[in-house]
Amino acid sequence: METLYIGLLGLGTVGSGVMNTLEMNRREIEADLGCRLRIKRALVKDVREYGHLQIPADLQLTENIRDILDDDEIQIMVEVMGGITPAKEFILEALAKGKSVVSANKDLISLHGPEIVATAVRNRADFMCEASVGGGIPILLPLQKSLKANRIRAIVGIINGTTNYILSEMTDKNMSYQDALAAAQEQGYAEADPTSDVGGWDAARKIAILSSIGFHANVTTDDVQVEGIEAVSQQDIQFATEFGYVIKLLAVAEQHESGVTAAVYPAFVSKEHPLAAVRGAYNAVYVVGNAVDDVMFYGKGAGSYPTASAVLGDVMEIAHHLQRGTTGQNPWLAEDNPATVLDPAELENSYYIRMIVDNAPGVLADISRVFAEDGVSIKTMWQRGNLEATAEIVMVVYPAAGRQVARVSEALKQLSCVRRVASLIRVYEEIPNADR
Ligand code: NAP
Ligand code: HSE
Repeated sequence: METLYIGLLGLGTVGSGVMNTLEMNRREIEADLGCRLRIKRALVKDVREYGHLQIPADLQLTENIRDILDDDEIQIMVEVMGGITPAKEFILEALAKGKSVVSANKDLISLHGPEIVATAVRNRADFMCEASVGGGIPILLPLQKSLKANRIRAIVGIINGTTNYILSEMTDKNMSYQDALAAAQEQGYAEADPTSDVGGWDAARKIAILSSIGFHANVTTDDVQVEGIEAVSQQDIQFATEFGYVIKLLAVAEQHESGVTAAVYPAFVSKEHPLAAVRGAYNAVYVVGNAVDDVMFYGKGAGSYPTASAVLGDVMEIAHHLQRGTTGQNPWLAEDNPATVLDPAELENSYYIRMIVDNAPGVLADISRVFAEDGVSIKTMWQRGNLEATAEIVMVVYPAAGRQVARVSEALKQLSCVRRVASLIRVYEEIPNADR
């Protein structure tokens, strides 16, 4: 029986998951492939630090990348060490040598994906990265293949488990943002430095990858307008609950006639929408295509075994290509193919606005005038006048351009009766059927 050799870069959360899953499911995997699959070498920084892992006897740990790059027996390299340098250099060299590569590295792919895919194709090798978005959820391959017959109109994702966990805890247990963040860190979801999760950057990298595939034109992280969840308060969560919504950090990419938009922001999502049911550290990607209509992909967006499931799925796909001699035939990202990116501030959205105002006659009239002057129409209004000198006013407005609503917010802040515009959050609206 033939043996296919893998070189593994990184033996952390995902790397050890890959090693363990291969051992756990070896029988099924090898029966499918009709050959043996073996991790020959794993690159680590210090081999002495891996005594706690059950390393198979035939797996050699190395601190020297040359042991993998220069080994002609290794045909597939799995990069799960993260970061840009040296991961990028290692991947490009492996591809140049004709090795196929699997990576889970969204930071790298969102920055250099087109160059990496082009290098793979030039060298008749494969580059696959299913695990880089949504952990164990199959979404990149379905977008490339199963949904290919569609014009993808929108991709809406809950694609950061840390923030979804925080917002779920704030909703279900009335926790403050700070307490929920601490709980996420305790559970191992959030990094010690959670900036890229809570600031929306992790989701921005993932929606850049998703939209590049879905819209067949490259969207970079710089093209994504990013807003995190740091300003979402317990009051906003309570208002959302009261009015039939949940707050989610959404990554939203849309394809319009004149270009695409991509943005990450917290949004009110109707409790009736399937995305509202995505709780805790789970992820989901909701795709709107002009033929398929709506489809939602749901599952664990992170974790050792779920992510390893996606990595090994890619390894097996490549193994089949190697057996058939068909590697390097999928230029799923093209170089020099930038998307025409529109400013999401031009898009219309319904908004929730919460403000703290003087509790005095004429205040509502002053506020309403500001909305009217910019042509923004108020849909609903609530007031809580239980504070002595101040009142809390919440308004939801009919769809208006982001730029218009930002102007209204600035004008409200100039009113002497408005003490604070406390929140400005989008209300997520489905794309109307007529526009699909
Ligand atoms: P991790 O637990 O920190 O593991 C990374 C491993 O790579 C560590 O053992 C690290 O060693 C090693 N490493 C880093 N640079 C190295 C170098 N230059 N030479 C040798 N070893 C090196 O990270 P992870 O969570 O497994 O994530 C790995 C990748 O998967 C990242 O790109 C991440 O974004 C992606 N990903 C992760 C998840 C998840 O659930 N964790 C989900 C989807 C995608 P030291 O510990 O000694 O630094
Ligand atoms: N930090 C990421 C998350 C891990 O919270 O979803 C998976 O990419």
